[in-house]
Amino acid sequence: MQMIPVITIDGPTASGKGTVAARVAAALGFFYLDSGALYRLCAYKALKEKVSLEDEHALGEVASSLAPHFEDAKIYLDGEDVTDKIRAEEVGVAASKVAALPTVRKALLEVQKRARKAPGLVADGRDMGSVIFPDAPLKVFLTASAQARAQRRFNQLKEKGIVANIDTLTRDLEERDRRDMQRAVSPLAPAKDAKILDSSELSIEATVNQVLQWYKEVTQ
Ligand code: DC
Repeated sequence: MQMIPVITIDGPTASGKGTVAARVAAALGFFYLDSGALYRLCAYKALKEKVSLEDEHALGEVASSLAPHFEDAKIYLDGEDVTDKIRAEEVGVAASKVAALPTVRKALLEVQKRARKAPGLVADGRDMGSVIFPDAPLKVFLTASAQARAQRRFNQLKEKGIVANIDTLTRDLEERDRRDMQRAVSPLAPAKDAKILDSSELSIEATVNQVLQWYKEVTQ
């Protein structure tokens, strides 16, 4: 049986992986897995049900009972449209904490593997290439300097009418990077065979084209 192809795109927060992964998936007609959304959904449900973020056992149960429904660009959890709610800063911070727990990561393992469907999958996250899809034919590690990422987040917030401080954003990004990189299980790190792509000076289009070019090379 021929393996269903997977392109993994891992990298730090605000590196643009989500946008790039979704565009690469659209260009190839592949499915798209936003694995960070699963950790965010888990955190959202825990916050809503007032489950302590220290209670690893209970959080594992929250993760294994998650039954999100993805429809077009929307995400529903228990019938509620949570698309925007899971993007809140508070949920992102809680997601980074629950993502450090082995029981939570284990509970979400199968859901992620099941996303591998024909004709192919583009998966973005922190450990897609290193842990979840180690046999992916193309693994990309997308980075950008903390300044470039903070500037992008600043622009995104500005578009939403939210005033932010660039120094605070940079500090927050660096702190989240540290937590994601220093945790014991599945820390943020490029897979050994990943191609590193620094997008600090690249447009989204140029970044997408580079990934598509690499994919063409590995499938030729
Ligand atoms: O990509 P994101 O910002 O939506 O991810 C939210 C949090 O989930 C992030 O702090 C790290 C964690 N995460 C993870 O540990 N492993 C993944 N594969 C994806 C996200």
